[in-house]
Amino acid sequence: MTKFITFEGVDGAGKSTHLAWFADALRSRGLDVVVTREPGGTPLGEQLREMVLNQPMSMGTEAMLMFASRIEHVEEVIKPALLSGKCVISDRFSDASFAYQGGGRGMDWERLKELEQWVGIKPDLTLFFDVPIEVARQRLSNNASLDRFEQEQGEFFERVRAGYHRRVAEDRLRFKVIDAAQSLEEVKRQLASIAGKIG
Ligand code: TYD
Repeated sequence: MTKFITFEGVDGAGKSTHLAWFADALRSRGLDVVVTREPGGTPLGEQLREMVLNQPMSMGTEAMLMFASRIEHVEEVIKPALLSGKCVISDRFSDASFAYQGGGRGMDWERLKELEQWVGIKPDLTLFFDVPIEVARQRLSNNASLDRFEQEQGEFFERVRAGYHRRVAEDRLRFKVIDAAQSLEEVKRQLASIAGKIG
């Protein structure tokens, strides 16, 4: 059964809006759904989020803080929820570290895989909201306060997007790629069809 679902995409792809809608669609099917996010998801994780989104730091520190937040999140929130029969939807998970720290920053892919093994669990299903970077940037420009990642230039996001594509190519069965440049209605229609097969 599909119980652990993650949402991924570059900043501005619209995944957070879609996530709230998808969670409601699953709830209306009678599923007990926990919605959470990374970096964050626990009190300690939210403190790490604050640091990693706002303070300058080296690439290695950034990656380690993302994974520290993740390990805490898995142990304190995700595993207990799954064990009690709930469905967990996380706004970002390990794929984001491959895309942003691996693709965006250029951190060694194999080293990230070692950290991923330490996390121990993988999503059953990952919805990747794919969108051309120009479209994503345009959506973000409406947003007043940009964090350390959102302030990066277009080339950084092109590398992040390529990182996501590499992850999809490495694990096609786990991913559903959604064209997030489509209208909101069309994306919702696809999500409704995916939600209809879960549970
Ligand atoms: P995001 O979901 O975009 O938060 P919000 O919608 O509130 O802006 O996530 C915050 C940022 O963290 C995003 O730019 C991607 C980055 N990030 C990484 O670089 N690596 C990771 O492993 C994770 C989970 C997130």
